[in-house]
Amino acid sequence: MAPQEYEAIPSRRIVVERFGGVEELREVETTVAAPPPGHTRVKVLAAGVGFTDLMARAGEYLLQRKVPFSPGYELVGEVVDTHGEGLAPGTLVAAALPRMGAYTEYAVLPDWLLVPLPDGLDPHLAAAVPLDYLTALSVLETHARVARGGTVLIQGAGGGVGQALSQLGRRSGLRMYGTASAPGSAERLARYGVEHIDYRRQDFETVIRERESHGIQAVFDHIGGANLAKSHRILAPGGVLVSYAFVGRPGHMIGDTIRGAARVKLMNMRPGRRTALCMLPKELNANRDWYRTGLARLLALAHTGGIEPTIAAHHPLAKAADVHAALERREITGKIVLTAS
Ligand SMILES: NC(=O)c1ccc[n+]([C@@H]2O[C@H](COP(=O)([O-])OP(=O)(O)OC[C@H]3O[C@@H](n4cnc5c(N)ncnc54)[C@H](OP(=O)(O)O)[C@@H]3O)[C@@H](O)[C@H]2O)c1
Repeated sequence: MAPQEYEAIPSRRIVVERFGGVEELREVETTVAAPPPGHTRVKVLAAGVGFTDLMARAGEYLLQRKVPFSPGYELVGEVVDTHGEGLAPGTLVAAALPRMGAYTEYAVLPDWLLVPLPDGLDPHLAAAVPLDYLTALSVLETHARVARGGTVLIQGAGGGVGQALSQLGRRSGLRMYGTASAPGSAERLARYGVEHIDYRRQDFETVIRERESHGIQAVFDHIGGANLAKSHRILAPGGVLVSYAFVGRPGHMIGDTIRGAARVKLMNMRPGRRTALCMLPKELNANRDWYRTGLARLLALAHTGGIEPTIAAHHPLAKAADVHAALERREITGKIVLTAS
């Protein structure tokens, strides 16, 4: 289509104009202009909501320090039109985004970000794949690289990324321990072959030392703080601690994340064991082939049941604030998907 045939499309999106509570998620009317060269305009069918969105809204997320912005790192949509050699209109696509912006009705995105869905894959299910499963893929294959039969500890194995790590870890033939505290965790984790440690009642370091006297090959951590030293101590020689988030003090999370990341880097200077930091939004931009191949692989697995994203509920985009509030109250297990219509 020639560029002059394009028209701006009216679009609603959820915007954070001031960092703060859920009341700062406002729906605004806007227009989405024609895609520039190398870009595609997409009608968003579903956007996944992640814990990171809540942190960003509150102004506690290192990679989103400016307002205004629309939250959301992942979406599934339908191609409307493209400027150049892009996909045909009507093609269903998924994307993880290097910068937030998925809580919207229409988006203009670079062509390289858009990965077609396998025929017949439910778009709502697909929207739960990009962020959590690509993060897990990066932790496992880019950073940890544990051989089949190796033993790992997944912190927060019942969470979004934790479940993705459990499911992909099972496919890679890993022996897995996982910390979780939510009711029913032991049964949920057992489904993926993960041995449960209730971190509120048990000390994970003691449990692993008792059961794995030679140490384990990897720990995947999203907590930081005291967890880092304890995780490092239970590694076998040659083992690796992969850190992908830090729980800081409310109001100090950005500084605490920077300090946590520096600590992980310093720990890597100790001989005998490795540490690594995973930051998906930066990695997918830096290695676009890895991103496209990885997401296509994950969508194919979701289609064939090789991975099982858990969808807790769908809600209209306009209900984003209610969804954030429910997630903050920790009332939800599984992924919430926001739908534009
Ligand atoms: N690096 C990246 O590129 C990247 C990508 C995606 C997400 N993230 C970050 O990763 C973190 C997790 O995201 P998510 O979407 O998976 O969150 P989530 O679904 O809310 O899961 C977090 C899990 O952490 C568990 N947890 C809480 N305190 C814990 C503790 N002290 N020890 C062990 N587990 C604990 C909770 O388990 P119970 O409810 O069972 O207690 C919960 O299931 C967030 O900070 C997010 O921002 C980073």
